[in-house]
Amino acid sequence: CGIVGYTGFQDAYEVVINGLRRLEYRGYDSAGIVLEQGTNFDVAKTKGKVEDLVAISKNLIGKSHVGMGHTRWATHGVPSDRNSHPHISNNGKIAIVHNGIIENYDTIKTMLTEKGFVFHSETDTEVLVNLIQYLMDINADIDFPTAVRYALNEVYGAYAITVMHEDFPGVLVVARLGSPLAIGLGNNEYFIASDASPFVEFTKEAVYLEEGHMATISLEHGVDIRNIKDNVKIIPEVQQLKLSLEQIEKGGYEHFMLKEIFEQPKSIHDTLRGRLLVEEGIIKMAGIWDHLERLNQAQKITIIACGTSWHAGLIGEYLIEEFARIPVEVEYASEFRYRNPIITDKDIVIAISQSGETADTMAAIKMAKEKGAFVYGICNVVDSSISRVTDAGSYTHAGPEIGVASTKAFTSQLTVLSLIALKLGKHNGNLSNQEFMRLITELDALPKKVEEVLETTNDIVKDIAKHFIGAQNFLYLGRGYNFPAALEGALKLKEISYIHAEGYPAAEMKHGPIALIDENMPIVIIAPKQGHYDKIVSNVQEIKARKGKIIALVNKGDTQVASVADYVIEFPETSECFSPIIASIPLQLLAYYIAVYRGANVDQPRNLAKSVTVE
Ligand code: G6P
Repeated sequence: CGIVGYTGFQDAYEVVINGLRRLEYRGYDSAGIVLEQGTNFDVAKTKGKVEDLVAISKNLIGKSHVGMGHTRWATHGVPSDRNSHPHISNNGKIAIVHNGIIENYDTIKTMLTEKGFVFHSETDTEVLVNLIQYLMDINADIDFPTAVRYALNEVYGAYAITVMHEDFPGVLVVARLGSPLAIGLGNNEYFIASDASPFVEFTKEAVYLEEGHMATISLEHGVDIRNIKDNVKIIPEVQQLKLSLEQIEKGGYEHFMLKEIFEQPKSIHDTLRGRLLVEEGIIKMAGIWDHLERLNQAQKITIIACGTSWHAGLIGEYLIEEFARIPVEVEYASEFRYRNPIITDKDIVIAISQSGETADTMAAIKMAKEKGAFVYGICNVVDSSISRVTDAGSYTHAGPEIGVASTKAFTSQLTVLSLIALKLGKHNGNLSNQEFMRLITELDALPKKVEEVLETTNDIVKDIAKHFIGAQNFLYLGRGYNFPAALEGALKLKEISYIHAEGYPAAEMKHGPIALIDENMPIVIIAPKQGHYDKIVSNVQEIKARKGKIIALVNKGDTQVASVADYVIEFPETSECFSPIIASIPLQLLAYYIAVYRGANVDQPRNLAKSVTVE
């Protein structure tokens, strides 16, 4: 979910609505706004997108200078007008917007119901706002921020909240535990948001609220930050934002996803910038530098991540094992955290997360740290929660990724993992100098190759996509490094076109999926020249014999696979270890165009969210 709050001199409606539009990537099944109107609240909320909210709330324009809004990704209760935020307390005086989950809501709800409270939604959030009211009802001498603090000490779970009270005009109370919240410090105005994008054009100064902290914000008294537990005052650290507005706008592309696909020559270049010094023959990574020994002496490396980042992790395993010869395991963060994995203080855990906010990954990191492991983060969002809790790390520097389906963040994750694997391998002597030089020279050439792939395949893929608008299923096959690339290709298609797709190691096909193959089954096969090419040729033949429709990704000039395939997409040659970076580009385009032809909302696919801050 996304939260925006404002107090200042501007039209609060405009600030909040524009902010919600930028945060819609965090969830978009319902939206709402509350504005202060003298000592009353004006509330509008609806199932649907921010534009649906605008349609029912235009009359609120220009009415207020204080307000807050919410764009939701449902956890408790189906998307509906009733379950949309803000939620209002029974006495009508307190309004809340919330991102996260209150886990013990049921017990509190029972208690409040016994006291006569009535609930109008199925949400955990409505329970929290009524708990705040209840605490004020029974403690006549406490003020509003104190009541919020008391209430938060009664709940557990994850939250970022903003709360307003009719009797405390101009005051916004915010708090965070597990879900992010940034406070923008303007000139006579304050902003609150789940990330800084809603206020970058107004101020470059921000405070990122830390775990377990809350803040009372008003023009009169500024920003007062306290520890939720014991009310100890905190002196905030003010950050200078580097994000520019241009970076988060579409820049002429029809969708963020397409823009981000096309940004990859630059984003990969940015990932490598300052790190890959080919002429000097070195990889310089600040994050690794101080910990090189520790990393190299690791008994094993466990990579934890979710979704697309988990796919990057699988390729990371191949890279690190091949070049650094350190055993690697890759786990879904959500599984890792709920079993009792064998992790000791000799282990390294690498956590990969685009957003740096994924709740399961955060929890898995905490657990790994408790077991004594050294945790290395690979995040895209600077100053995100994961980048703060890890012991060391590298940013991917791909720039803001807004499209919900991850594209450029993925290829930048692969680039960082390549750098780490090569650096470790060079340092521990598993990679000869000559081999290291060959590989880093190739790595350096990747942005150019990605540019070439975009230029040469875009129109071809767009055309191929037309033939598969009506497909019900898709199979994606690859071997070696390109097996995880096949998983990621299938995930992209599923996420945005809603066509069922499965990724498989090409050789495993004969142990199951082959039963599905007939003339209606499209099969994408990643078949570069290096890496088991002959074996792949046999797999292609097996598919052909069963009349499957083959879309083959091959190296330029390939004839063997190309002659059997129904559709051919050519991409430039590179070492097998880097081929997923190149092969991913046409796969992203294929998913994109099929989804566009099917009329799907590419940037905001149904039921998904960019940053999943609930477990
Ligand atoms: C969500 C997104 C995916 C993403 C996953 C992990 O499910 O929709 O695109 O891969 O979360 O996110 P992270 O930010 O941790 O990489």
